[in-house]
Amino acid sequence: MSKVDIVEVMNWRYATKLFDAEKKISTELWDEIEESLILTPSSFGLQPWKFIVITDQAVKERLLEHSWNQLQVTGCSHLVVLAAIKDLGEGDVERLIGDTHAKRGGDAAALEPYKGMMLGFLGHMNEEQKYAYARNQVYIALGQLMTTAAILEVDACPMEGIVPAKYDEILGLEGGRYTTVVACPMGYRSDDDKYASLAKIRYEKGDLIEHL
Ligand SMILES: Cc1cc2nc3c(=O)[nH]c(=O)nc-3n(C[C@H](O)[C@H](O)[C@H](O)COP(=O)(O)O)c2cc1C
Repeated sequence: MSKVDIVEVMNWRYATKLFDAEKKISTELWDEIEESLILTPSSFGLQPWKFIVITDQAVKERLLEHSWNQLQVTGCSHLVVLAAIKDLGEGDVERLIGDTHAKRGGDAAALEPYKGMMLGFLGHMNEEQKYAYARNQVYIALGQLMTTAAILEVDACPMEGIVPAKYDEILGLEGGRYTTVVACPMGYRSDDDKYASLAKIRYEKGDLIEHL
């Protein structure tokens, strides 16, 4: 593993407002980004998400008006839409248990307490709480995606300024188990993006971090 200067990387990254539409992320680099994205940790390991990667310009164009006309949506190389499962339930727990057993082997019965714990945890939640829980996990994936991008010198812009219902409609998610949470256009900054050189606005470390 090579070491990066993480503070330098985090100062380099910024929420890109203007992408260079001519510059595309290579397939090799994109594969790495996807690998890192799916390695995002989640509560219990349930991975209550789906990531939709859009490179089709026509689809990006359709999403633009439902993105407060933010040009990152059409100017980026890859537009990632991060979606959450709306109705996390027993089937998802079964899936995880099955996958764990398939990959780690051992006695299937040994996973029963873990399964019971997850079912108990979800069983105490109403639909709204389950969605909020899944949605929270999606934001962890967003963070991982942005950090990965920055380390690989790819630009990104987290975007909540979208209309999730319209995204669902256009992306064919409507009526399914997944719903749009947040978008993240990715690519390479334009030389004309004046936001790239603005000073970072962050409160003082002492105001944000307490040591006990
Ligand atoms: C969850 C989330 C949603 C955001 N939504 C938008 C957005 O819709 N459009 C945009 O231009 N920036 C958006 N931002 C970018 C923030 O404004 C930006 O990250 C913040 O001002 C800090 O600046 P920096 O990322 O350039 O350091 C969003 C950021 C986050 C984390």
